[in-house]
Amino acid sequence: MITAGVDIGSLTAKAVILRDKEIAGYAVIPGGADVTAAAGRALGQALEKAGLRQEDLTAIVATGYGREKVPMAGKTVTEITCDARGTHYLFPEAGMIIDIGGQDSKVISLDAEGRVLDFTMNDKCAAGTGRFLEVMARALEIELDQLGPVSLKHRKTVVISSMCTVFAESEVVSLIAEGYAREDILNGLHQAIASRIAAMAQGQRVGKVIMVGGGVAKNTGVVKALEDRLKAKVKVPPEPQIVAALGAAICAQEIVNR
Ligand SMILES: Nc1ncnc2c1ncn2[C@@H]1O[C@H](COP(=O)(O)OP(=O)(O)OP(=O)(O)O)[C@@H](O)[C@H]1O
Ligand SMILES: [Mg+2]
Repeated sequence: MITAGVDIGSLTAKAVILRDKEIAGYAVIPGGADVTAAAGRALGQALEKAGLRQEDLTAIVATGYGREKVPMAGKTVTEITCDARGTHYLFPEAGMIIDIGGQDSKVISLDAEGRVLDFTMNDKCAAGTGRFLEVMARALEIELDQLGPVSLKHRKTVVISSMCTVFAESEVVSLIAEGYAREDILNGLHQAIASRIAAMAQGQRVGKVIMVGGGVAKNTGVVKALEDRLKAKVKVPPEPQIVAALGAAICAQEIVNR
């Protein structure tokens, strides 16, 4: 059976093609204002990589913030369920997933079968999300993909006291003016994000293995800070942005098999 999952996030559109138990193709593209067009492009690119056409698909499931605007999808499923399915496929031993995307962050605990036990979601403000780090990267004049490598070179501890994006940005600007090193400031920001996520995980069963997904999982500084704070083994899949789209493609298989 061949199915597709389409995840429309606040910043990027993702699609995964699943042929039985194997990922046959995927795409991650910038979202843009026209959600429906972005969904079509992501699906088109993923199909092309798989060497397939839309007619070859038995079912399509949409998830993410823009899931209601994906006309080709027969059904929608929440990101929480899709993240859980995708994580269990990638790391069956994972007891928790931390998904840090562009606009929200989620902490989800799973049972041994990959079912959702509990979850906490922050979608009220940019604190602890990719957007927060994008603002800080601009203030520090560091490219997004350099955030991890630069912060891992830190020497001194800098504590960022505010998690509000606007206040934290002023704090960063002041710290730069006071002569603090960029790597130390950045590490302070990553520690602040990790402590915010740890607070979200409190009260949930952490388990031995945590998977970190979403675009911010590409930031090795955030991943290291989470590992230190949560004292668990942290796994990052090769393509952390496609976890929910993969989960949606798995949900599509389950729906057909029901
Ligand atoms: N190489 C990288 N290094 C650091 N951060 C990155 C990198 N690539 C992407 N990001 C971050 O990932 C974020 C986007 O993540 P993702 O694609 O998971 O978001 P989304 O699914 O659209 O958002 P949401 O789930 O919140 O609606 C961006 O804000 C960006 O800061
Ligand atoms: Mg997302």
